[in-house]
Amino acid sequence: MARILIINGPNLNLLGTREPEIYGTETLEEMNGRLSDLAKEINLQIDFFQSNHEGEIIDILQRESKKADGIIINPGALTHYSYAIRDAIAAINVETIEVHLSNLFARDDFRQKSVIAPVCRGQVCGFGFYGYAMALSYFSDMLED
Ligand code: DQA
Repeated sequence: MARILIINGPNLNLLGTREPEIYGTETLEEMNGRLSDLAKEINLQIDFFQSNHEGEIIDILQRESKKADGIIINPGALTHYSYAIRDAIAAINVETIEVHLSNLFARDDFRQKSVIAPVCRGQVCGFGFYGYAMALSYFSDMLED
């Protein structure tokens, strides 16, 4: 069974109470539960990680990518300035999809640039939970044998 890593970056552990008008009221645990249900239906194994620390996210990418067939990452605010995460994704050779809950292009100017998207297969933003679900669905089709 194909193995997908879902990595959430800084402050995403606060989903549910963090700016609910932007990010909704579902907690990260609840969202991950729904993604696990979906993964079972489409025959994928998922491993979830969340970290508030750039270096830890890089460690996760380097270590866990060795056993992964695809990566879904929401780097949070690191999206907009972490060349180190960009370089880590470029280094590991595992197809990666960048996901954001909110529509970055309807928000602050600084959110409208991702330094990470250029080394990803693509970026999905603005669809909340469904962004992760779309990325899973893509991997399920692409990794079918
Ligand atoms: C976010 C968007 C980022 O700009 C922000 O810093 C986040 C969440 C999103 O999922 O919409 O932490 O990545």
